[in-house]
Amino acid sequence: MQREQLLEEARILIDLVERKTTSLADSVMTLEAAAYADPGLFQRESSELFRNHAQFVGPSCMLPEPGDFYAFADTGIPVLVVRRQDRSLAAFVNICSHRGAPLGEGCGHAKKSRMFSCPYHGWSYDLDGKLIGVPFGNEGFGELDRSTLGLRPLAVQEHDGFIFVMPNPELGFDAAQLLAGIGPTMSGFGMERYHLLGIKRVETAINWKLNMDTFHEFYHFEALHPETIATMSHNNVCHYRQYGRNHSLSSPRIGIEALRGQDEQDWNIRDNVSFVNYIFPNTVIFVVGDHFQTWRVYPIDARRSVVYHSMFVPELPQTESARAELEAFFQMINDVAVREDYTLVERMQLAVNSGLSRRVHIGRNEPGVQNMHRQIRDVLAPAEVLRLQR
Ligand code: FES
Ligand SMILES: [Fe+2]
Repeated sequence: MQREQLLEEARILIDLVERKTTSLADSVMTLEAAAYADPGLFQRESSELFRNHAQFVGPSCMLPEPGDFYAFADTGIPVLVVRRQDRSLAAFVNICSHRGAPLGEGCGHAKKSRMFSCPYHGWSYDLDGKLIGVPFGNEGFGELDRSTLGLRPLAVQEHDGFIFVMPNPELGFDAAQLLAGIGPTMSGFGMERYHLLGIKRVETAINWKLNMDTFHEFYHFEALHPETIATMSHNNVCHYRQYGRNHSLSSPRIGIEALRGQDEQDWNIRDNVSFVNYIFPNTVIFVVGDHFQTWRVYPIDARRSVVYHSMFVPELPQTESARAELEAFFQMINDVAVREDYTLVERMQLAVNSGLSRRVHIGRNEPGVQNMHRQIRDVLAPAEVLRLQR
């Protein structure tokens, strides 16, 4: 986001703080609680939102060098994304053509920056997915046509510094259309020069949407996080902007009011405004202080989900003590979400699992939560969703 836009965002937030209000949706939204545990809906979501919908992978700086790869299997189809020698990206179904082992796991680096070697029997593939080596190949597999045994390609795109991949090998997509203009709101922060500090994986006994709901509103800071987030950020104040199916929420840090007394050209915006950017359907990108975090949430089943929490920093620590300090900070942020949010929300999931017929209400002051549910409804549309999401 450019300086003038940041100034504008800060002015809006100062005004909201002074008027003790926040961005408001047109009306209250009401959902059937069963939408957070319905097996039929889970099936539809898995296929329409995860398997057949392009997925946010991370910022481009997640795979900075040729040979860097990231593999994940949480959409139901194992996916492998790699940066090739010419710095373009390729993506494949992460299934070896021999007997189906995955060629990589999580973040890693291709062998000699130019090939994958299967951990099971050592078949190897270049970064274009071509099968280039079969141990004992002539005798063992001579009659097979190797040209047909490459890795199955997937559509992958890099746009505005973000990587997207389509898990379903039959489908394509348009990343610019998916981002719908939210990309530039995050450019100008120099994200392309950031470094991945690490990724934490947390499994929760929480439906994936209930999990995501926790990220889209700042209404709970004071009640749930009195000792942590509420000491840093204003409760229940956000400025909401829509970008296609995505949105951005900016939030004022405590003390932003003091900017009023300063010349605008001296305003330090990043110390006073933080952002939660939602990328449909399952990702939020936090921009707080000098770092970025991504949280990607995937359903495991109707009542459980897994979250990948990634931290990106402007410079990798150069000493052991600097690394330990940064790791501790990363862990502290993760702990707040796990200890304070997820502990409570897992109990909310139990209430859903009780099966009692009940509705939940999403206030006008929770426009981000409303948007996510509205967009999911829009993609899934038909009757069963409307029954569960009134
Ligand atoms: S499964 Fe990959 S080489 Fe056998
Ligand atoms: Fe929270």
